[in-house]
Amino acid sequence: MFRIVKKRILNTQVKLMEIEAPFIAKKAEPGQFIILRASENGERIPLTIADFDRDKGTVTIVFQEVGNTTKALGKLNEGDMILDFVGPLGTASHFDNVKKTAIIGGGLGTAISYPQAKKLYGMGVEVHSITGFRNKELIILEEELKAVSNKLIVATDDGSNGVKGFVTDILKNLIEEGNKYDLVIAIGPIPMMKAVCNLTKVLGIKTIVSMNPVMIDGTGMCGGCRLTVGGKVKFACIDGPDFDGHEVDFDEAMRRQNMYKDEEKISQKEHKCNLGV
Ligand SMILES: Cc1cc2nc3c(=O)[nH]c(=O)nc-3n(C[C@H](O)[C@H](O)[C@H](O)COP(=O)(O)OP(=O)(O)OC[C@H]3O[C@@H](n4cnc5c(N)ncnc54)[C@H](O)[C@@H]3O)c2cc1C
Ligand code: FES
Repeated sequence: MFRIVKKRILNTQVKLMEIEAPFIAKKAEPGQFIILRASENGERIPLTIADFDRDKGTVTIVFQEVGNTTKALGKLNEGDMILDFVGPLGTASHFDNVKKTAIIGGGLGTAISYPQAKKLYGMGVEVHSITGFRNKELIILEEELKAVSNKLIVATDDGSNGVKGFVTDILKNLIEEGNKYDLVIAIGPIPMMKAVCNLTKVLGIKTIVSMNPVMIDGTGMCGGCRLTVGGKVKFACIDGPDFDGHEVDFDEAMRRQNMYKDEEKISQKEHKCNLGV
């Protein structure tokens, strides 16, 4: 059992939880994820390791309440227990010879981009973080990202806070202003990552994306998280979730992501939560 030691509400849909998991905290690296099961009859879901503290023995997760499991998880409080919490899973991000990077987080992707920014900033890399949200109510982790970035630009689609526009426009402007990035990291909705890659491919800037297909076992056995990368079959749970964005077949990933939409709708209609909520 894994204790929730801290809970923070970041916006109406997104919550942060710090979980006591010393063995995972000891080994965790940016880019990796955990799979949790909140209760006996619960579903296993993957969530990115948004932060970790090796001294305190804690792992931080940030999740958006989109369906039954994440909504039930969000109702748990400090002191409550999570039944299974497995990790660290996936391949840790590796950064070689990076001097200047632009890290782009779209919506919830901001939480996943945070550990990458923290790691690179800690390595002495010049970090420009760009985050995009639909409106100001949805902005998360602004202070945390500011602390690990040389420059932070927050954009909103409707202009209700920060710069009005999409993250791709901001990246384009920064490049046109003369910023020479040797690495771009894009984490967010698939259409956003695809748009960033279309821009950086033309400019020849290496780009890493974080893919989050449906995962089932998280160990490479079930094939659920299959992606096509560079014309080859890859499994996000063991080969990723980070991949070279210029090689990913985003259209196929989008089709697969929508495969269970009808079943998810039925499940949400019929679900009776068993977490005492
Ligand atoms: C490597 C990885 C890292 C992730 N990191 C985060 C994170 O840090 N924060 C966060 O909020 N979300 C993250 N996700 C997505 C998260 O796993 C899903 O939002 C969650 O599983 C939804 O479950 P649900 O029962 O609440 O919703 P459902 O109603 O079951 O599903 C809603 C949406 O979640 C997706 N989804 C459902 N089950 C899975 C699954 N087992 N694997 C992947 N996607 C699924 C569906 O495609 C659908 O779009 C990550 C996914 C992966 C694969
Ligand atoms: S989740 Fe089963 S192969 Fe990756």
